Amino acid sequence: MNKALSERKRVCVLFGGVSPEHEVSLSTATSILKNIDRSLFEVLPVAISKEGKWFLYNGEVSNIIDGTWINSDKLYPAILSPSRGDGLLVRYGEELIKERIDCVFPALHGENGEDGSIQGLCRVAGIPCVGAMVAASAVSMDKTLTKAIVKELGIRQARYEICSRNDLLSGFDSISSRVESSLGYPVFVKPSSTGSSVGITKVKTASELKDAVTIALRYSDKALIEEYVDGREVEVAVLGNSSPEASVCGEIVPGDEFYSYDDKYINGVATLHIPAELSDGTSDTLRRYACDIYTAIGCAGLSRVDFFVDRETEEICFNEINTLPGFTPISMYPKLWDYCGIPYPELLTRLIELAME
Ligand SMILES: Nc1ncnc2c1ncn2[C@@H]1O[C@H](COP(=O)(O)OP(=O)(O)O)[C@@H](O)[C@H]1O
Ligand SMILES: [Mg+2]
Repeated sequence: MNKALSERKRVCVLFGGVSPEHEVSLSTATSILKNIDRSLFEVLPVAISKEGKWFLYNGEVSNIIDGTWINSDKLYPAILSPSRGDGLLVRYGEELIKERIDCVFPALHGENGEDGSIQGLCRVAGIPCVGAMVAASAVSMDKTLTKAIVKELGIRQARYEICSRNDLLSGFDSISSRVESSLGYPVFVKPSSTGSSVGITKVKTASELKDAVTIALRYSDKALIEEYVDGREVEVAVLGNSSPEASVCGEIVPGDEFYSYDDKYINGVATLHIPAELSDGTSDTLRRYACDIYTAIGCAGLSRVDFFVDRETEEICFNEINTLPGFTPISMYPKLWDYCGIPYPELLTRLIELAME
């Protein structure tokens, strides 16, 4: 049923941004803008440049993915005002207009988008925002903080060491020997707070450790050095606020040596299996763990919770949680819900409704 234009909720879709996942965000936003139900929602697309400049973008959706939106003549400088009731302040030529915003949909990944920053701005402005709010976003973005909470739940996760920039300058030898004695090689070295496998290295010998840590520290203040877990990669989509629901489990079979950035977005060799072939008991446990972790962290709206599952014993090991997971129609999160009977456009509607609850 078509709603009268005036009744439609105004949704501000934010995309781009300063994070290393800028390009991923462009593809998420393209999918959202193509599929959002325009009979229910009026959309205000807001593009954020790599330098962090905000613009209302009234150009073609097809010019988002390749970044050519930046040359459009339909870009208007805009800011989301923290002052309640102002909404989006847009400069059209000489005129400054207040555009009402009913909900923000951050089609952003990583730094600023997924780490609680944008969520904080929305909270100050009093505008509902899709997904987890400030604390849950910040905790989920920082893998070391997530681990502290998941430890309390008694769910197994990879053993790890943390290395800060200071540790790298003085004290690296003791970290290196702890890695050798308590983790053994290979290890995975990752920034504590990026996504999309940016800055991650699989380290096979002690001589490669320092370089890998240096790379990870380019992206985060802390590097995480993790024991290698040789398992299948199984992911669960969670949807809801105070009583979240878990989807069926999905399995990723990486095309690369591990599920790398190229594998995720460039090579197209990784395959998704939905539902994952697992015993009923293991699937149920994974789905329960996913909801327990979601609730313990205080997530809202959506998250994808990722695990390793042992190939022989099906022993479960938690890997990470993503509060704004990959979100094109071929991404795991929407595909899991599609399998469960919620098509992509309806999923968008539900997420906006959950935010406005
Ligand atoms: N401890 C580990 N053991 C084995 N593989 C790992 C480990 N940690 C990460 N990986 C591999 O690296 C990929 C990306 O790591 P992940 O922790 O999920 O970071 P991101 O937030 O960038 O997705 C995983 O999907 C997996 O393929
Ligand atoms: Mg991951």
